[in-house]
Amino acid sequence: MEQTLVILKPSCVLRGLIGEVIGRIEKRGIIITAMKMMQLDEKILREHYAHLVDKPFFPDLCASMMATPVICMVLKGIDIVSVFRTMVGATNGRKAAPGTLRGDLCMSGQANIVHASDSPENAIIEINRFFKPEELTDYVPSDLSFLYANDELNP
Ligand code: TYD
Repeated sequence: MEQTLVILKPSCVLRGLIGEVIGRIEKRGIIITAMKMMQLDEKILREHYAHLVDKPFFPDLCASMMATPVICMVLKGIDIVSVFRTMVGATNGRKAAPGTLRGDLCMSGQANIVHASDSPENAIIEINRFFKPEELTDYVPSDLSFLYANDELNP
């Protein structure tokens, strides 16, 4: 089953929204296979946001991502990368649709509470960037029939 890397950003931690976001993940029926709190530094952020290092907002982005420790998680599910990106909503919270995490819980394009991988290929790279192999698990609930139909699990 596909996996994705999620970061609950300092804007989520500072505003006391960790439980709200994790609650929505669990209620959706998404499987959490790894989770930890860690302090990010500029080295890992330059890798993670390599596509943004030349943008004028990059120093502010870095500072905002280092303001507190973050929660890193690995989520598992069928089509989880696209499912969770849809659940996160547009980058700018003011433009994100109601019902999405950003659309319900933030008002900013930078303090936008959650990061989620944007493709299955990047998810694998990002999971390995933020987690050591021994921190990952292959957890799946013992009974998946409450989450998916047989033909979804075995197409
Ligand atoms: P990006 O990868 O474009 O968006 P997303 O997080 O939705 O995948 O941008 C990464 C982060 O960079 C974004 O979550 C917040 C920050 N950012 C800004 O601070 N200002 C901006 O104008 C943009 C586009 C992004």
